[in-house]
Amino acid sequence: MTHQATNDHIDTLLHESRVIAPSAEFVARARVSREDYDRMYRRSLDDPDGFWGDVAGELHWMRRWDRVLDWQEPHAQWFVGGQTNVAHNALDRQVAAGRGDKTAILWEGEDGEVRTYSYSELLREVKRAANALTALGVEQGDRVTLYLPLIPEAAIAMLACARIGAVHSVVFGGFSVSALADRLGDAGSKLLITADAGQRRGGLVGLKANADEAARNTPSLERMLVVCRADCGVPMQPGRDLWWHEALAEAGDEHEAAPLDSEHPLFVLYTSGSTGKPKGVLHTTGGYMVGTYLTTQAVFDLRDDDVYWCTADVGWVTGHSYSVYGPLLNGATVLMYEGAPNHPDWGRFWRLVERHRVTILYTAPTAIRSFMRQGDAIPAGYDLGSLRLLGSVGEPINPEAWMWYSRVIGGGRCPVVDTWWQTETGAIMLTTLPGAHPGKPGSAGLPMFGVEPAIMTRDGEELGPDDGGLLVIKRPWPSMLRTVYGDDERYRKTYWGEIPHVYFAGDGARRDADGYVTVMGRVDDVLNVSGHRLGTMEIESALVAHPAVAEAAVVGRPDEVKGEGVVAFVLPQSGFTVNAGELRAHVSREIGALARPDAIIVADALPKTRSGKIMRRFLRQIAAGKSIEGDTSTLEDPGVLDRLAATPVA
Ligand code: WT7
Repeated sequence: MTHQATNDHIDTLLHESRVIAPSAEFVARARVSREDYDRMYRRSLDDPDGFWGDVAGELHWMRRWDRVLDWQEPHAQWFVGGQTNVAHNALDRQVAAGRGDKTAILWEGEDGEVRTYSYSELLREVKRAANALTALGVEQGDRVTLYLPLIPEAAIAMLACARIGAVHSVVFGGFSVSALADRLGDAGSKLLITADAGQRRGGLVGLKANADEAARNTPSLERMLVVCRADCGVPMQPGRDLWWHEALAEAGDEHEAAPLDSEHPLFVLYTSGSTGKPKGVLHTTGGYMVGTYLTTQAVFDLRDDDVYWCTADVGWVTGHSYSVYGPLLNGATVLMYEGAPNHPDWGRFWRLVERHRVTILYTAPTAIRSFMRQGDAIPAGYDLGSLRLLGSVGEPINPEAWMWYSRVIGGGRCPVVDTWWQTETGAIMLTTLPGAHPGKPGSAGLPMFGVEPAIMTRDGEELGPDDGGLLVIKRPWPSMLRTVYGDDERYRKTYWGEIPHVYFAGDGARRDADGYVTVMGRVDDVLNVSGHRLGTMEIESALVAHPAVAEAAVVGRPDEVKGEGVVAFVLPQSGFTVNAGELRAHVSREIGALARPDAIIVADALPKTRSGKIMRRFLRQIAAGKSIEGDTSTLEDPGVLDRLAATPVA
C-alpha cells in the first residue's frame, strides 16, 4: 500500500471496533429495511435489467428504452434507445404530481437574505432560462460553462441546460482565472454564465473580472450571461455580455423539455488526476438520472416533509448529484447556503439548521473536524432537534469526528451515513443505509445497489477479508462516467486499464468479514485537501511557472482539520531567492486558494533515483516530520534526505 495508508487517521481506523445501530424508532419508519436491502442488492446483481428497469420506470421517459445495458468494455450505454429529460423529471414531473406549491429551493445568502422557489416557480424560471439560452444560439450538445456563486441561479442554469440538451460544465467559483480558462478551452464552450461577484466572509469575490480575463484566451466563447448578485457595477462588453435578469425578462415562460437520448451528454465536470491536466469527466442523461434518483431516496431515507441540506457547492460533484439533481428528482425541499461555514461565527451552520428546521444534513469531514475544534458549547446553543439523519462525504472520516457528529450534532438519535463515491462514479457507491445497517465509525460500509466492489492487488488478484489493497468495481453501473471529455484514451487507461476488466478507483481500501469497506485514501498522486481533489502535478506545474522556481515536488501530509495539507519542495532558479509568501499567492492565482501550500521547503536538491525519478515516498516522510524508512540505496545522492530534513519549513 502506498502513502495515504500511513497517516494517523488511518492508524486509528485500523483499531476501531465500535458498531452503532440505528434507533428502533428510525428502523421502524425507514424506507429500506435490512431485508429490503438484502433482497434488492441480490436482485441488482442477479437481474440487473429487471432491477434497473423498475427504477427507471418510476421516472418519466418520452420514449421507453429498448435495452437496459449495452456493455462493450470499457464503454457502457444505459437505457439504450430511451429518451428522457432530467429537468423534466426534476420539475415538470413534480408539478404534475401535485408538488407545485412545495418549496423546491430554500436559499440563504451569506448576509442572511432568504429566497424560496416552489416547484412551480423554479420550473417557470428554468423555462425562461431555457428560452434565453436558445435565444442566445445555444443548441443541443453545445457546452455552457458556469462560473457562479452558490445562488439559486446556479441550479436554474444547470437545469436550463439539461432542459435543452446543452452540456453544462460548472467551474467552482473559487478557481482562478487560469483554471477557468483551461476548463473553458477544453470544453470549447460558446457561452459562459457568471455573476458580477460572489459573497464570501463579508467580502466580494470578483467573478466577472476573472471571467473577462479567462475569456480573452478562449476563442470558442461567444457570449457571457451575467447574474447581478452583488450589484457592484462591473463593465459589460457590448455585443458579448448580457445581464441574466434582462435575458430572462425577455424570454417566454412556455417551454417543452427536449426529448434527449438516454446517452446524450448531461455535463462535464473537471477533476484532478495524477497528471497535470484536469480531466473532464463526462456524465450522460438516463443513467446519471436513475443513479442519483435512487441513491438520494435510499441513502437519505427521503420523505416528503424533509428539509434536506447538502452543504456542497455546485462546483463539485456532490453539489451536482446531491444539492441539485438527486433531491429535486425526488421532489425534496433543498436548502442552499451561499457562504462560509464560520461566517460571521462558528454557529452559522447550526443557526441555519435551527432556522430552517433541517432534517437531513450532508457535509464533509473537514467541516465536522473544524466545528469539533470549536467545542461542544457552540452547537449546544442551538435547537438541532429537527435533525434526523446525518451524512458525510469527500474523504475518510476519522472515528473521533464520526462519534462527535453523531453525539453532538445528531444528539445520539441520528444515524450517520459515510458515503464513498467520486466525480467519476456520479452517485454514492458505498455506504450504510440508515435504517438497514449499523454504522461502523470510519468505515464507509456496504455496496449500493448494482455496485460490485472488490479489493485487489495491482496484479488483479482478489484479496480476502481485512487485507488492504486497491478498491475496484467489477461491473458497470448506471451513473458511471462515460469517458474523459475529448480524451477517450485517457478514460480507458485510467479507469479500465490499470487492472484488466475492472474499474480502478484510485483508492486503497480493505473489507471486513461483514462486507464493510473502509476506504483509506488515494494511492495515486492525488491529494484530498478539505475534501477537494488536487493533483500534485497540477500544483507542481503552477510552482515551476514562477520565475524563481527551477523545480518543484509536491506531497501531502496529514492535517488534523483538512485531512491532508499541501507541502511543496522547491529548488530555486539560480540567481533567485524564493519568497514563500509570494509563492503561496502565486499558486492561489494559478489554481485557486484551495491549492495554497501549507508548507514550503526550499531545497538544494530533491531525492531522485539514478534515472531521475523523484522518490516522493521519502518526501512524504520528511513532510510529515517522520524519520526516513525504506531502501534509500537507489538514490543518486542519499545525503539529500538529511539535508532536506534539516531545512527550515516556510
Ligand atoms: C475521492 C473522490 C464524491 C464526493 C466528493 C469527492 C475520496 C470521497 C469518501 C469517503 C473515504 C472518500 C476518495 C475518492 N472520498 N468520499 N466517504 N471515505 N474517502 O469527490 O473530488 O471526485 O474525490 O474522494 O479518495 O477517490 P472527488
